[in-house]
Amino acid sequence: MDKRQMAGAGLSRRHFLYGGVILGGGLLASPALARQICRPTEGDILGPYYRFGVPFLAKLAGPEEPGERLVVSGTVLSADCRTPIANALVEVWQANSTGLYDTQTPGNFTDKGNFHLRGMLYTDAQGRYRIETVMPGRYPVPPNLPGLERYAGITRPAHIHFRVMESLHVPVTLQLYFEGDPYIAKDPWASGHPDSTIALQADGEGRSGVFDIVLARGF
Ligand SMILES: [Fe+2]
Repeated sequence: MDKRQMAGAGLSRRHFLYGGVILGGGLLASPALARQICRPTEGDILGPYYRFGVPFLAKLAGPEEPGERLVVSGTVLSADCRTPIANALVEVWQANSTGLYDTQTPGNFTDKGNFHLRGMLYTDAQGRYRIETVMPGRYPVPPNLPGLERYAGITRPAHIHFRVMESLHVPVTLQLYFEGDPYIAKDPWASGHPDSTIALQADGEGRSGVFDIVLARGF
């Protein structure tokens, strides 16, 4: 499969490289190395700002939302890093451009009230998703969060939370980061998940990036 075909299949350059390793035995002959490179997306903590029951929507932010426009798209793939997963449920949530979430009660996942900058969608028949939003702002870890006391005050790099599930695969919770963010190196979560950092391209209206998510098979 050449690069143009991969693009047509909705796969990012990241997985083009993975695919090259897997399919083109001449590139890297070691199956062990191929397995090491093609792997399920690593999970991360759910974090204190998750909320159950968000609405189905892919446009998290309308034109009235302050901040730089951001589009994140990608494909949810099975463990071979090639097979798209249709109808995977993708939940996303993030802070606004000033680093504030829509809840002031961290850790209360069933907090009632208006949802803002969060939503969920199903991947299409080709396993694709696409969200329209704004660049999330950085924020400090609040004080007195149970279990996170020693991280209080550190600045989190900009990120978007994802939770992805499908009936035959193992769900994954993760955070997506953006290349070049100077706060990644000192963040205990971002620095430990380099595969969850993507490059962004500038376009006419804002920025965009591609993030593919690989789920482990459940059996
Ligand atoms: Fe967060």
